[in-house]
Amino acid sequence: MSEPLELTVDGVPVTVLDDSATLLDVLRDVAGVRSVKDGCSPQGQCGCCTVLVDGQPRVSCVTPVRRVRGRSVTTVDGLPDDVSAAWGAAFTATGGSQCGFCTPGIICRFEGLRAKGVPHDDREAASSALLAHLCRCTGWQPIVDAWVAFGTAEPTLAEGAAARAALESGSPQAVGPHVALGRGGFADDTAPADALVAVPDGDDGWAVAESRAEALRIAGKVQGRRTTADFAPPIELPPGDWHRALRTSWVEPGYLETDAAWCAPGGEPTSPLENGGAFGGKVTSEVSAVARRLADEHGRPVRVLYSREDTVRRGPKRPPIAAGIRRDGTGTIRVARTQGIADAIRAVAPGLTVEEVDVAGPPTSADIRGAGWVEAAVLVASLADEPGWFTAPGGGSARAAVAADGSVSVTVRGGDPLDETVLRSYCTGAAHMALSWVTSESLGVDEGGEIHDLTVRSFGILRAVDTPPIQVTIEPSADTPVAVGDAVFAAVAEAAWRAAGHPTLWPVAAVSDTRHG
Ligand code: FES
Ligand code: FES
Repeated sequence: MSEPLELTVDGVPVTVLDDSATLLDVLRDVAGVRSVKDGCSPQGQCGCCTVLVDGQPRVSCVTPVRRVRGRSVTTVDGLPDDVSAAWGAAFTATGGSQCGFCTPGIICRFEGLRAKGVPHDDREAASSALLAHLCRCTGWQPIVDAWVAFGTAEPTLAEGAAARAALESGSPQAVGPHVALGRGGFADDTAPADALVAVPDGDDGWAVAESRAEALRIAGKVQGRRTTADFAPPIELPPGDWHRALRTSWVEPGYLETDAAWCAPGGEPTSPLENGGAFGGKVTSEVSAVARRLADEHGRPVRVLYSREDTVRRGPKRPPIAAGIRRDGTGTIRVARTQGIADAIRAVAPGLTVEEVDVAGPPTSADIRGAGWVEAAVLVASLADEPGWFTAPGGGSARAAVAADGSVSVTVRGGDPLDETVLRSYCTGAAHMALSWVTSESLGVDEGGEIHDLTVRSFGILRAVDTPPIQVTIEPSADTPVAVGDAVFAAVAEAAWRAAGHPTLWPVAAVSDTRHG
């Protein structure tokens, strides 16, 4: 028999039943605090759900609510006004928040640092504090800059800031202190409190219930897992006498906000791309259509939610490749069969013969950031003695180098920058993602196509403490603004591969042991 228990949330007493709910369930679904995000529950690995319990940072998705009986829970919504304003300003002034999904949890973590009296010029302490978090957008550096800027920054934004953000992310993207403070308008945050919740039931259907916790119970969801086995890249090299050869592994797009949408009966569903482009990973997401169908079936608003494990299993991946290229630019690239991928490759590497092959594994998509053309462009560029310029299909250009000490320098041309801080942040994030892809990311998929890495930590995303300095130089012009992130992604991938001596396999010898760390 469940007993009622009390806690305080942002200064307000809350009474809940002592069932097996987590603090995250209670905060989002009972107390209605939507600034606390769910990026991986119940894995406890992304940090998006971090709140303060009696002033100490705590990961709420792995905290049973009974453990906080009688305690005081503070989210970013409950911080003193001057403190939350200072964090909003710091993250805005530095570009430390893009989609903003990770930011409220990071602010709570940084509040823990502040409470300990850690000085704001201590970048190392801030980077170490970020070990409990994941940010896929910013490349970490702007977040550490936000720690440094706290208390002194003004939330200045150029007029075109949101336009630059939308250009780079490929979807609507709000910019400003409210995004950092968790009010970016994510699909699941705007759902009515009385909406039903639907989650995949693992059997091609949907478990629908009054709450997420109940829907997960019906679906029989278990904690995600990761593997310690190493799986070889899935495609064999084409036979030939190659000057350069490359095999890539399965990798996970790893966007932090899992797929979500809601719909009222007879209404228009929200988009899982309400605030961020997910690097192309949600372009074909089913959740909006499912929300509309289930809302009509049940005659009530329905929230459709993927767990992290659902996103990994069902979300499309970058098609793996195996390729060989001769000095004259001719060669063969084998790529997992994917609609549109052959055209993307041929557009940048007409000397490569494209062979599409069937590979057992998760779905693939040519919508994922630079899929196909980046691999092909990197192979071609690797033939040159010096790094050159990369131009993305949209027209933005970038050049990059990785120095002997590992530091990265990037130069970009994207027409009118619109807002240099925002542009710099997107470039830093794209550079981090490329570096991470080439050096440390992989997703364990066995020969039968089953995914063995289902937790956010197992994707091998480069941590803040392992990320080298990334220097971005903007070459502005008065030309029409164009996105540069994908060009940066390509240029840094090539520079990282070059710096590693062009080994055949990606990820190359890991610069850090994050994969199983
Ligand atoms: S949602 Fe709690 S750590 Fe990811
Ligand atoms: S801003 Fe960190 S995940 Fe998007």
